[in-house]
Amino acid sequence: MNILVTGGAGYIGSVVVEECLRDGHKTFVYDNLVKGHRENVAEEAVFIEGDLLDGNLLGKVFRENEIEAVIHMAAYSLVGESVGNPAKYYQNNVVAGLSLLDAMRDCEIKKIVFSSTAAVYGEPEKQPVEESDRLAPTNPYGETKLAFEHALRWYENAYGLHYASLRYFNAAGASEKCGELHDPETHLIPLVLQAAIGKRSHVEIYGEDYPTRDGTCVRDYIHVIDLARAHILALKILDEKSAIYNLGCGGAGYTVREVIDVATEVTGLEIPVRVADRRAGDPAVLIAGSDKIKNDLGWNPEFQDLRLIIESAWKWLRNHMKKEEAKSKVS
Ligand code: UFG
Repeated sequence: MNILVTGGAGYIGSVVVEECLRDGHKTFVYDNLVKGHRENVAEEAVFIEGDLLDGNLLGKVFRENEIEAVIHMAAYSLVGESVGNPAKYYQNNVVAGLSLLDAMRDCEIKKIVFSSTAAVYGEPEKQPVEESDRLAPTNPYGETKLAFEHALRWYENAYGLHYASLRYFNAAGASEKCGELHDPETHLIPLVLQAAIGKRSHVEIYGEDYPTRDGTCVRDYIHVIDLARAHILALKILDEKSAIYNLGCGGAGYTVREVIDVATEVTGLEIPVRVADRRAGDPAVLIAGSDKIKNDLGWNPEFQDLRLIIESAWKWLRNHMKKEEAKSKVS
């Protein structure tokens, strides 16, 4: 298929692009590079620098390249920032998203895979969280992702669009070439590894008085390659229907302390830790019920062990730092 990936220069997007290419799709990346990195885009993909609000450019790209399906990953995704600046999130995650949907409608493209989030559930009433559970986002990030999910449902109803909405839990790890590099970085695993390598003085644990096995929050970490593969499977249902799927590994998840312990073993380095206050809006436990995608699509995560996830992130970080050092020597 000819596929366009919005946000394909971002952390998860660039790995999705790798998997699209591996599955034999002609892959186009549409990214404004506000958050993405051009060098993350696989050479075999066609890169177009553009903004989702530019409907004319989108239409031209769709028509010239005979795009058949879109994987929509371009979005802002910082929970804290979204609370302070909801306008930014509504503008990008909803308004720009609708511009994309309308350009698709003009060009009669009827298939879309959408990057949604566990944040649509807010503080879940039970664990593991299932797709049919209560949707009650506690921040504009989750709220804007949910708004777009709702738009998809109504566009399906009126215009025959088929969508797969994938609600990610905690994406982590790296492929050979692409890893996590946000600015600012807020995610636990890259922060822990940066503390191990000395790029940060320490890592903070946001609260150790939660009702969990060691008092720190439990999360469901999913390897970015397993996450990316789910997009390829999801594309295959879109001829016939739409669906919403959680994406996580399930099981008992890992506490913040367990993440730090595994990272200490993997790196062989001391990771200085300080206990800090709770971060506003963090649920104690967030575990995905992912039976639906396993049963419907045969999705089967290969890298469920946290050690494998952290090893891949660690390998990528060291390579990345070597490359950066080499670049700074040349310049
Ligand atoms: N944490 C720390 N110290 C840090 C960073 C994180 O203790 O320096 C803790 C957090 O409190 C949380 C866990 O580590 O318990 C994981 O935090 P992340 O920031 O890595 O990820 P979140 O679980 O907050 O975020 C994920 C997705 C978001 C999504 C959210 C839904 O990355 O996109 O789940 O709640 F919105």
